[in-house]
Amino acid sequence: MKLVEARIVSNTELLPGHNLLCIEEPYIATVAKPGQFLTIRCGNGLILRRPFSIHRTVDGKLVSVFFKVVGKGTTWLSQRDSGEVLDLLGPLGNGFSLPESAQSLLLLAGGAGIAPLAFLAEWAVRQDKKVKLVIGAQTSKYLYPTEYLPSNIEQVFVTEDGSYGEKGTITQFLARHSEKLVSQADYIYACGPLAMYQEIENQRRKWQQKKSVQVSLEIRMGCGIGACYGCSIMTRKGMRQVCKDGPIFEIDDIIWEEVRL
Ligand SMILES: Cc1cc2nc3c(=O)[nH]c(=O)nc-3n(C[C@H](O)[C@H](O)[C@H](O)COP(=O)(O)OP(=O)(O)OC[C@H]3O[C@@H](n4cnc5c(N)ncnc54)[C@H](O)[C@@H]3O)c2cc1C
Ligand code: FES
Repeated sequence: MKLVEARIVSNTELLPGHNLLCIEEPYIATVAKPGQFLTIRCGNGLILRRPFSIHRTVDGKLVSVFFKVVGKGTTWLSQRDSGEVLDLLGPLGNGFSLPESAQSLLLLAGGAGIAPLAFLAEWAVRQDKKVKLVIGAQTSKYLYPTEYLPSNIEQVFVTEDGSYGEKGTITQFLARHSEKLVSQADYIYACGPLAMYQEIENQRRKWQQKKSVQVSLEIRMGCGIGACYGCSIMTRKGMRQVCKDGPIFEIDDIIWEEVRL
């Protein structure tokens, strides 16, 4: 982990209310693993840094973040221009586990949940793994653009209003096709809202094959480096700090009553 000052290369609104921020930061671009995150000091008088998953790294030089504008910090960040300098800390957290034995991966991305999964998909195809990525959004205008995804993966789209792809939510899609999806995947990875994780866990209990499901817990954080204990949660494996021991957890280790935004 390093504290760095990094120049913004571009910051564009990729989807309504969602920005793709590209930063020149060779250290993080070289050492980051999918599922890790960085924190950004945002203006507007905010004391706490805001955490964001590493969305992509390019040529050991560039790092990108895909974020949804939800409040003060992300509004400030969305207004930054290329050439401006950001104060970053990263890479942080554990990252996804991608065992060598995993040949076929199922990735479930709800909304801005594509943020860490695009990096995982790229990483996996470089290791010759087969990737099926299911992306869900409310409507087609919030679907992450295919041209930003690796071409050599299977992409499936789901929209709640049926304006593109299959109609429904990611979890409805999973329920409808679980037999095929689960039997074809060695490992499953998900990123999205807590309600999506809880529903995946409910369904998982009924699956005949108990596959590993790793999720990214995007809860509110204080320091982001294991110093303040503000992100501590009790898990089935004991007390864990989401920023240091996570943010990636096996879904069945999570005690849902412990997880609050
Ligand atoms: C490890 C990690 C990785 C993350 N990666 C991404 C990412 O790649 N892209 C992305 O868009 N967001 C990501 N988030 C969430 C992001 O950090 C928050 O949306 C951001 O901190 C909000 O800051 P704000 O000042 O704009 O909002 P605030 O003004 O602090 O809050 C505004 C609203 O957003 C809600 N909110 C605040 N924090 C979170 C949170 N952590 N999760 C969900 N809702 C929140 C609040 O409840 C409130 O309703 C991640 C969070 C974590 C912990
Ligand atoms: S946010 Fe401070 S210990 Fe995790």
